[in-house]
Amino acid sequence: SWTTGNVIEEQVALIREQVGDKRAICGLSGGVDSAVAAALVQKAIGSQLTCVYVDHGLMRKGETEQVEKDFVAATGVQLKVVDAEERFLTALKGVSDPEEKRKIIGREFIRVFEQAQAEIIADEGPAVEFLVQGTLYPDVVESGGGTGTANIKSHHNVGGLPEDLEFRLIEPLRKLFKDEVRMVGQELGLPEEIVQRQPFPGPGLGIRIVGEVTKDRLDLLRDADAIAREELTAAGLDRDIWQCPVVLLADVRSVGVQGDGRTYGHPVVLRPVSSEDAMTADWSRLPYDVLAKISTRITNEVADVNRVVLDVTSKPPGTIEWE
Ligand code: XMP
Repeated sequence: SWTTGNVIEEQVALIREQVGDKRAICGLSGGVDSAVAAALVQKAIGSQLTCVYVDHGLMRKGETEQVEKDFVAATGVQLKVVDAEERFLTALKGVSDPEEKRKIIGREFIRVFEQAQAEIIADEGPAVEFLVQGTLYPDVVESGGGTGTANIKSHHNVGGLPEDLEFRLIEPLRKLFKDEVRMVGQELGLPEEIVQRQPFPGPGLGIRIVGEVTKDRLDLLRDADAIAREELTAAGLDRDIWQCPVVLLADVRSVGVQGDGRTYGHPVVLRPVSSEDAMTADWSRLPYDVLAKISTRITNEVADVNRVVLDVTSKPPGTIEWE
């Protein structure tokens, strides 16, 4: 019968046998899937695994620290953190178009990641032959992939690395659904904040700032987002909502009155949604007192934000993210 213990034991044995005395690398995104895949492979092969985490400066408050400290503490994994904030912000300077932002972030991410991979491969030690990926069963089905019996397939890597270098993929979560992955993560001792994490887009806060992405605007949005998350958690609503993007309308200003004077600040949008799979979504009917608390705290505690608005659009017609 299916138990998380069985899954872990089976995968650990399989991975050990496949990797032998070679090495593996794994990219961590801060999300649940890559974290659980990495923890599982770490359990199997220990220091033969190296993880790479690219900090693009578009993360939410505390997320990079969560990976750097809590994840490492829980797993003992060997981690290479690349601080690429400046590089990303430079590349994003002056760019407001959503698709262009996405393309730039994706392109820079691959460059930085491949550079880090190349450095690890150039290290002393056995060959790096394996790449770990947190592919889940729904991903396999969606991409028309096989029956899910094998957990390894060949993969050619391009750009930045020698042309003839070929990684074999380790995908230990290929037969699992999201809730099972969370159970495996819990069994492996990963922190609750990582295992129960709600979805977060790869381009991060970069696509939650309508307008140019700058360090100041990111800091501001990080503060507002942290308050919203804190209050939703305190109200016990984390399991009821799918996710709640907070969006900064950086190119919009509105007049307000705070303390003794007139302000001319930015609005932020709360976008709480309920969903099964993110394909469709409904706006969450959050209790008014929770909304009030979030609004009061954000306008009091985040300088330059003087208005909080609620997005009451379903998907379709709106997408979950604003960009
Ligand atoms: P939309 O905005 O298309 O979002 O309704 C659907 C879900 O996907 C997430 N999302 C992304 N996830 N990379 C990701 O890994 C991305 O570029 C990306 N864009 C959107 C979004 O947060 C929501 O859960």
